[in-house]
Amino acid sequence: MKVGIAMLETPQKVAVGRAHSKLILIGEHAVVYGQPAIAFPFKQIEVKVIVKNIEGNTIRIESPFYQGPLEQIPEKMEGLGDCILQTLKVLEQKTSGLEIQISSSIPIGRGLGSSAAIAIALVRGLFAFFNQELSNSQLMTLVERAETFAHGTPSGIDMMAASSANPIWFQKQHVVEHVKIGAPFHFVVADSGRVGDTYAAVKSIRDKYEIKPEKIEESITLLGKLALEVRQGLAAGDSQQVGDKLNQAQQHLALLGVSDPGLDGLVDTARTAGAIAAKLTGGGRGGCILALVENEQLGKKVADALIQAGAAQTWQYTIAKC
Ligand code: PMV
Repeated sequence: MKVGIAMLETPQKVAVGRAHSKLILIGEHAVVYGQPAIAFPFKQIEVKVIVKNIEGNTIRIESPFYQGPLEQIPEKMEGLGDCILQTLKVLEQKTSGLEIQISSSIPIGRGLGSSAAIAIALVRGLFAFFNQELSNSQLMTLVERAETFAHGTPSGIDMMAASSANPIWFQKQHVVEHVKIGAPFHFVVADSGRVGDTYAAVKSIRDKYEIKPEKIEESITLLGKLALEVRQGLAAGDSQQVGDKLNQAQQHLALLGVSDPGLDGLVDTARTAGAIAAKLTGGGRGGCILALVENEQLGKKVADALIQAGAAQTWQYTIAKC
């Protein structure tokens, strides 16, 4: 490495881009059909992208999933490749002489927004490297391309939440709104350890919708109504109201077919261990659940029970009053 640096004709320049994970509290899937959803920034886990200049006429990717030139990026990462090229086009820069290192503590495919966070950190890193101001609309346009590769028809909630410092009220074609939090709320997030396939889960609902629109519409509309009630509960600092609505949301997600026996088992475990409520978060069919708990002490008990029940890892998460 040292040799490479010494051989550089131009001085070494380094820039860093970061983005955090996100948690969908309520409204996943329904949001695809135009219903509102609430999402939180989940800052404990994040993506870091380091951009450096290197000699040569290529862009080199260094990531846990792929190391090599951009031109040979695997199909699964095509969206990121496209995002890099589009960002360089917007920046009016050549597509060579760069090394892009991606590291992430966000597990992939668990409904925690890893693909959106990687794209956000990437765009931020490239703009920082070329000392350019990045507007939010530029960021969203560039990240949306990568998300479309990853998800097919993303609602946009992941990239909004992963780039926001605060809880958001998200509805397609509407301006993102702030969500008032009247008192701190504590959660435990548990990773089932199984990769979920958001693309397939969204498609499975779409397929059912085409056969029986009334049935799907009923759950979707109710999930929208529950999101509104959760928003009111959050503003009032009322954990029982919020919990009641989150439990109802889980029932509808199960009816829609995006929960599975593994997630149902973790949801039951959390509730039995004393959680006020528990539901899946994100695309489902694998991925994570979240559990609302009265306080951090109970959170520890619930987290231990979830690990005992087979969760791969857990995080305690508190959303502060704001
Ligand atoms: O990326 P995930 O698994 O958190 O899912 C995003 C939420 C969905 O509503 C399932 C899809 C979308 O595009 O909104």
